[in-house]
Formats: sequence, C-alpha cells, structure tokens
Amino acid sequence: MPDTRETALPTPLPAIAALPAYVPGARGSSAVPPVKLSSNESPDGPVVGVVDAAAAASEAIHRYPDMAATEITAAIAASLDRDPAEVVVGAGSVAVLAHLLQAYAGPGDEVIFAWRSFEAYPILTAVAGATAVKVPLTAEARHDLPAMAAAVTDATRVVMLCSPNNPTGPTISTAELEEFMAAVPTRVLVVLDEAYVEYVRAQDAVSGPAVLDRHPNLLLLRTFSKAYALAGLRVGYAVGPAGLIAPIRACVTPFSVSGPAQAGALAALAARETYLERAAAVVAERERVAAALRADGWTVPDAQGNFVWLPVGPATLDLVKHLGASEPAILVRPFAGEGVRVTIGAPAENDALLARLGSWQGPRAAT
Ligand SMILES: Cc1ncc(COP(=O)(O)O)c(C=O)c1O
Repeated sequence: MPDTRETALPTPLPAIAALPAYVPGARGSSAVPPVKLSSNESPDGPVVGVVDAAAAASEAIHRYPDMAATEITAAIAASLDRDPAEVVVGAGSVAVLAHLLQAYAGPGDEVIFAWRSFEAYPILTAVAGATAVKVPLTAEARHDLPAMAAAVTDATRVVMLCSPNNPTGPTISTAELEEFMAAVPTRVLVVLDEAYVEYVRAQDAVSGPAVLDRHPNLLLLRTFSKAYALAGLRVGYAVGPAGLIAPIRACVTPFSVSGPAQAGALAALAARETYLERAAAVVAERERVAAALRADGWTVPDAQGNFVWLPVGPATLDLVKHLGASEPAILVRPFAGEGVRVTIGAPAENDALLARLGSWQGPRAAT
C-alpha cells in the first residue's frame, strides 16, 4: 500500500526561524584554565551563607518551590522600600524581560532599544512577535535619547534603556532620562535595565528607585547575577507600579525560580554590605584597567559596569585571537566588526589582560 502520509515537518514561525542565536561568553576548553573575562560575571564566588542556604533548600527539591517566591519578593521590596506587589521575580532578569515583552508587546507592535546594547533585546522582541527598532548609539557609545524619543510611533509599546549600557559602558544621566520621559507618551512602557547598577560611580547617572515614583510608565529591571555573584542560580526581578507588574507576574513560567535559587538570593540580599564592598573592589580595578589602557593609547568609552569596551571595529576578531593565544588563554566577548567587551576580573587576571593587550600590534581604536 502506498504511504500517503504527509512528509512535511513542523516549521517554526518565520520570526523565530530568522533569529540570531544568543552567543554566550566563551567558556574555554584547554587543560590550562583560561582567564574567563567573557560573561560579565563576578570574579568572586558567593559568600558562605549563600551556598549554605541554597544547599539547605536543596533538601526539599522533591517538592515544588513557592510559586510566588514570597520571601525573596518581600525582601527585595523591603530593600527598596516598596510593596511586594511592586516586585516580580523570575529566573534571571532576562526571563523577567521575556515575560514583560510577552505581556506588553506582540505582532504589529514596536519595541525600541539602543544598538549596540544587550543582545537579548532583539531576540526576546522577536520571540514576543514584535518588531525591533534599533536606534544607534552616539559616537561616545551612549544612548541617543532624543533620537530614541523621535523613533516612537503609534505602534511603539515598549522602550528598553540600558544603564550602564552592555557592552559599551556609559550610563544614562538623570537629566537625559527625565527629558526622555517627558517626550514619550505615558502609554509607552519604558524599562530601565540596571543589571550593573552596583558598579555605577558617575555622579550624574540615573538611579531607578530615585525616579520611579515620578513616572507611571517606568519599570526597573535588576539581577542577582552580577554584583551578587549568582549568575548560575538564576534570579532577577522587575520593580515598578503594581498595575504594571501584575500582567508580568501572570506570564511568569510557573515554579521557574527554584527553591535553592530563592533561598540563595535571600541569603545574598542579607549579605548586601559584603557584596557592595566587593563591587567597590571591582570598580577600583575597573578604574585601574581603564586608566592603564587609555594611557597605552586605547580608546575606552566611559566604563560604569564591571567591564570595559574596546571599539576596535574591523580588528575585533584578530584582537580576540591575540588574547586567546596567550598562556593561559584570555577569553573575552567579541562583537564582530564592532569591538571587544572585557569583563573586569581579579587583579592578577587584569594584570594578565593588560600585559597581553600591551603586546597587541594592531589598532587601539576603530580605524
Ligand atoms: C544589560 C543586561 N540585562 C540583563 C542581563 C541578564 O542577566 P540575568 O538574566 O542573568 O539576570 C544581562 C546579562 O548579561 C545584561 O547584561
């Protein structure tokens, strides 16, 4: 009997098929452990109490976790002097952003963000079925907020702002943010991604919590992955008016923040002072590295996160190869044709980086 079954295979939505893959920082594979400066992680591990808390919670992993993440949500809210209804927790801030876009943007809607910025923005926008509108950064690698305001149309539903901007480093100032919010209709949701806020030292930089109450259409996005050294545990959150937070909560994948993750984040928040001291040490190293590089002829935009940006343009992949060929290999994050993002590591790692960059014969700025 002839086989009359249909042979075509299931196909994804066109927008999903066209997605660029998210490129994680290189992990290295050689026998000699590499210097891993590719993922903007903390150079220090979690403090002891955090591991103990996560381990203790592991005793109950045969049970589902608290779906509402009640304790950690309340603790985050208390740390910011807000109500728990104004906080939603997810499996990393990237997951919270995915839920947010699911809640607020769909086919036919536009999501505006600066470019180059965090590479998850275009991916999550496409996954939500919405259209990405990329507004180029200025020559100083900063957000061009007047241009972003001018890009708002009737179809705009969400604007992403990243301060400090990953991967380039500069912050958005309070004055810039206020001017922008005044120019954008309140029906547009503005999301200020503050993943690296603990490393900011620029005097004029916007602080999300300080401006939140002035704007009914503003949300903040924060994470335990960077200064709180919990990238592997996956906890992030959004903060803002309860009415804007509730629809995001409705989209959170049930039970996606595990019990150990909730307990670990709770312990990390309790050790806040220790983590802020560590962040200060990273800032001191960042200033040392950026100053040394500038003195050595490199163009380094204002660096306010736990990373520096080397905008070497067409020389990007060659520079990455040069760093990778050192012993041990130095792993960084390339953006082909644009530049190299280098995470600030421990002092000895930063010394190794500076020594290797010192022997680079190519351009130290985009040519
Ligand atoms: C700007 C920015 N936002 C959000 C995140 C996501 O962090 P996580 O999902 O680990 O909370 C990152 C991570 O690199 C980032 O750079």
